[in-house]
Amino acid sequence: MVDRRQFLTGSAAGLAGVAGGVLLGGELLGSDSESASNETAMSGQSIPFRGKRQAGITNPAPTYATFAAFDLTNREQSATRALLESWTNVAEQLSVGTAIQGDSGEATGMGPSGLTVTFGFGETLFDDQCAPASARPAGLVTLPEFPGDQLDPAWGGGDLLVQVCAGDPTVVSHAVRQLRRVGQGTARLRWSQAGFLPQVPGETPRNLFGQVDGTANPAADSAELDELVWVTDGPAWMTGGTFLATRRIRMIMTAWDRMSLDVQEATVGRDRETGAPLSGGDEFTELDLDAVSDGVPLIAADAHVRIAKANGPGMLRRGYSYDSGPLVVGAAADVPDEMNHDEHGQQDHRPMMAAMDDHDAGLFFAAFMRDPAEQFVPMQQALSATDALSHFLAYTSADLWAIPAGATTGSIAADLFA
Ligand code: HEM
Repeated sequence: MVDRRQFLTGSAAGLAGVAGGVLLGGELLGSDSESASNETAMSGQSIPFRGKRQAGITNPAPTYATFAAFDLTNREQSATRALLESWTNVAEQLSVGTAIQGDSGEATGMGPSGLTVTFGFGETLFDDQCAPASARPAGLVTLPEFPGDQLDPAWGGGDLLVQVCAGDPTVVSHAVRQLRRVGQGTARLRWSQAGFLPQVPGETPRNLFGQVDGTANPAADSAELDELVWVTDGPAWMTGGTFLATRRIRMIMTAWDRMSLDVQEATVGRDRETGAPLSGGDEFTELDLDAVSDGVPLIAADAHVRIAKANGPGMLRRGYSYDSGPLVVGAAADVPDEMNHDEHGQQDHRPMMAAMDDHDAGLFFAAFMRDPAEQFVPMQQALSATDALSHFLAYTSADLWAIPAGATTGSIAADLFA
């Protein structure tokens, strides 16, 4: 039995339980193994690529990831099929630490480091050229515009998505580079975002606002997770698949850092240090949205967790922090003194935020779910419209991906192109 804490913290024990076994130095470890929890052990970890479900979804998120989107430059169905066959082989080999043909070699000797490669399909894939339009899964809806979005076309879209995760940044970078090389002539890299997640053993990771982030995720082995994440009907290639919503979200650190701790905590609705809800208890205590003190709700009406909880059944969030430095290199300015204030409440912080929005760092939000129209769209609408946290955010991309089922044999989504 893997408990929620193990799942969230990425402990090796949690990893073993969730992935159905972790190969360490060629040996399958049991869920009670202690030895896989250090970095040396991590380099030898191998998460099976083959399975009914793709890896990189329910196993605990390791420290590094890159999300890379590709456009198909050869849009014939046979070319897409051939590309997925090649990518499947590359992913399978790299996930056991084997060099591939023509390997560039920079990860030689580093081991698989818990590498996972997860493939996704964007809506533009289903254009009757690359894939039949009639095969587009119903869950792959066109996302509406969300209030306040600052979408940058350079950061969004793509026919194919590859999510690569591992315990080592060179292993991640190497895998993306090999996939890109193998796809040469068929797929062109459109954008890619590298990310990181702090790993403190036994603790839920923190985001760049210092908040414990991921607490309310469904537990690894739970019926709730099954219900929230996996597609159970439709074509064979999607049965056992899921959908992934990704949003590149700049977090306006310069402004956030000038808010008092009280304001920061009220904005999300949880204690920053412990992650406990402001309605009381510890990190894993349920939110009490009715709790009041002197008639004032302990979790504010516009707190992030209140709005999120009230507007959907939930999802499996597995995003990564990113920090790309100044938004415009050489143009970071000092914050004007009159902006060093920290009021909260009805005030619209947006003008101040715009003045302080000069650093490109934040969250590459990534969440898996069974039905985006039910689980993502209404929640994002509500968060963008009324969430106090959104005053400190700039959403620069909005994408949805169909994540096919895993391949026990053959290539990913083979029956889509049969
Ligand atoms: C940079 C942007 C964001 C930050 C910093 C952030 C941060 C947080 C934090 C600190 C929590 C509380 C701990 C936890 O349960 O994980 C939380 C909860 C949650 N967030 Fe976010 N979040 C962001 C964006 C989003 C977006 C875009 C969505 C969905 C559209 C979302 C959905 C949720 C959900 C479903 C919960 C759990 C609510 C519950 O308690 O039931 N978040 N977030």
